[in-house]
Amino acid sequence: MSRPAALRAIPERTLRSGLLTLSRRRSLGRLATRLPIARDMVARFVAGETLAEALPVLERLHERGFATTVDILGESVTSTEAARAAAAGYVEALEALAERGLDRNVSLKLSQMGLGIDEAVCRENVARIVDRAAALGAFVRIDMEDHTTVDRTLALWRAVRPPADRRGETDCGVVIQSALRRSGEDVEALIAEDARVRLCKGAYKEPASVAHQDRADVDGAYAALMGELLRRAPYPALATHDPALIREALEVAATNVLAADRFEFQMLYGIRRDLQERLLAAGYRVRVYVPFGREWYPYFMRRLAERPANVAFLLRTVLREGRG
Ligand code: FDA
Repeated sequence: MSRPAALRAIPERTLRSGLLTLSRRRSLGRLATRLPIARDMVARFVAGETLAEALPVLERLHERGFATTVDILGESVTSTEAARAAAAGYVEALEALAERGLDRNVSLKLSQMGLGIDEAVCRENVARIVDRAAALGAFVRIDMEDHTTVDRTLALWRAVRPPADRRGETDCGVVIQSALRRSGEDVEALIAEDARVRLCKGAYKEPASVAHQDRADVDGAYAALMGELLRRAPYPALATHDPALIREALEVAATNVLAADRFEFQMLYGIRRDLQERLLAAGYRVRVYVPFGREWYPYFMRRLAERPANVAFLLRTVLREGRG
């Protein structure tokens, strides 16, 4: 999709960086989530504002053969009450998934569980979700946020992960971002711990001291980490919509005689549905990351930053609605 002239004048990297800066503005988020504009655009990436709205979406994906993981939107909470309420929301979602025979798999962010306020409260909240998940035979993925949280996220994951003899479908997994320079070492440690790892490129604005800035370097690091995980880690999750990396994953799998059930692809709800369908039809496992909730603003802004063409589409929608 071509970008309007005003947007074409801005280099893509600047636009990306600006959108990521805006994604952290809480006041803008409060404003945006109250406005009716661009509802259709948000709905493309977010499966509703409530669990009741998200369930039919999950049911449809399940019927078509997709695996799913549920994300209740919300991050960087500012009170322990909000963190506890978020944990309660996840327990409720897990129970609803189990009741309906849907995929018992959730993804959560530690800043939503209170990491920025009180680590003990955060750990208590996550432990509560992981315990309930264990009782229901569910899987909990701890998403990775910006680089300042990586050590604390890995430490908390180590503290709450079920012991080896009780793992299986009920494990708790983590995420590694290929953009971060430290990720090679983290992947080595995680392979030694038999960790369930999701590999992604990384969605946050990071300084050059800790993260690759060129997309080619991020992609190169992704390919290298993916190779290690596919060959040596239990059931890695390859989270990307990048066709070149997906092709490479299939080549590594073929060369190492890895069966299609030894790893999975993961993609975001509403992005590259064509590719999701093609991989599924070819016999691969594809898990769709399905977010819902009222706090969609930072998530949505990161999706815009990943593909600035989305901004042009959004602007056109807003202008059209403004005229209508
Ligand atoms: P890339 O950005 O190069 O995109 C490849 C192609 O995919 C594009 O050319 C375009 O066709 C399509 N595409 C990608 N993003 C799009 C968008 N927003 N709109 C339209 N088309 C788009 N990050 C993180 O920091 N921590 C985490 O825990 C997670 N978790 C996570 C789970 C899952 C299941 C996925 C798929 C991704 C994440 N991410 C994440 C986000 C990830 O880090 C990254 O920002 C996005 O996946 C985009 O990167 P790609 O690998 O798709 O490549």
